[in-house]
Amino acid sequence: MSLATVVKLTNDDKTQRRLMVEEDSRQQIAFSAPHTEDYSQPVLVMSRQRLRDNARRFMAAMPRVRAHFAVKANADAEILQIFKEEGTCFEVASIAEIDAMVELGANMETVFYSNPIKSPVSIAHAAKSGLLWYCVDTPEEVAKIAAIKPDAKLYLRIEVSNEGSSWPLAGKFGATPNGVEAIIEAAKVLDMKICGVTFHVGSQCCNIDNWVAGIGAAKKLFAKLSSHGFVPELLNMGGGYPLQFTGEEPTIEEIAVRINQELESIPENIQVMAEPGRYFVGSAGCLVSQVVGTATRDDVRWVYLDTGVYGGLMELTLDFPVIIVSERTGEPGLWTMAGPTCDSIDVMGRHKLPANTEAEDFIYMPNLGAYCTTCACDFNGFPPPVMRMID
Ligand SMILES: Cc1ncc(COP(=O)(O)O)c(C=O)c1O
Repeated sequence: MSLATVVKLTNDDKTQRRLMVEEDSRQQIAFSAPHTEDYSQPVLVMSRQRLRDNARRFMAAMPRVRAHFAVKANADAEILQIFKEEGTCFEVASIAEIDAMVELGANMETVFYSNPIKSPVSIAHAAKSGLLWYCVDTPEEVAKIAAIKPDAKLYLRIEVSNEGSSWPLAGKFGATPNGVEAIIEAAKVLDMKICGVTFHVGSQCCNIDNWVAGIGAAKKLFAKLSSHGFVPELLNMGGGYPLQFTGEEPTIEEIAVRINQELESIPENIQVMAEPGRYFVGSAGCLVSQVVGTATRDDVRWVYLDTGVYGGLMELTLDFPVIIVSERTGEPGLWTMAGPTCDSIDVMGRHKLPANTEAEDFIYMPNLGAYCTTCACDFNGFPPPVMRMID
């Protein structure tokens, strides 16, 4: 889904936005370039100032919305500290992320456990660590939490459209209308409190209608919950706020205009929060990688990088218009891009790089501060990207 379908843009606007994205990429590459000196493994260069700017811009755009950074996007301790200083709260999915919150000295009652399916051990760990709020999207989860943390505040995750998101999350999570009935029944039988509603529009979501529909559905569910004797007090709008890869994506301010408008009909006593992950960290980080070698197989030209699907570039296999820039200039060619491991799933589609690309060329990928290092492992002994912070 392109921005043109949700916001009316003239051709001049489009050119202007594309130029802004190009300028932003140039800036990210400029602050990353010094890290090619004494290079020994892929580097994710993260800017502290950009982290702060992203958090501030998000909070300024939606003053009523309390931001809970989704730790999964980048769990680095210094990054968490920066967001804590900026006044954001947090959202977690696992024991390790809960422990990171304890380490950070976060107010644990404001840490939200939004993974809809949690092991009994992790629920017990969360309860012991002081977490109050737990997401549910099945009656089974209500029962698991009831047995371990009977005074938990539950928030019910509903299914919403993920159309127009680069990384859809619908299907795996989110209660259908029938599922909602079953959850309400289970909560009543087990005397558990359903205090809120949540949804996730899918990651890198460029379709503002998904948030509008989610808020509308939550409003209806508040009425239903009240009719069953529950007292709704929370609207959690999840994550999905997109980065600018092409300039065709809606900006956070454009998304905010619609969301803020919808929130006007949400009663004041309902606290409103969101769980931005990618938006907070993505544009703060640029990945520096190096070409291991090139190969010609029949008519196909392959370029092998020193990191790939196992090394933080999983999203390149999907519908992400990631910007890939070589230090080498020259006529572009179309390359099949692969990571260094011996696994055949370690292939990341076709991308443009200079036709004369050679081993040891440096390759820059701006906007990779999210889901890069947290999704990387050292399969085959290839080192995952190391993170370096700059001011
Ligand atoms: C429950 C939940 N909240 C928030 C996020 C963050 O999403 P994003 O990084 O797209 O903002 C995710 C991502 O998967 C998620 O599963």
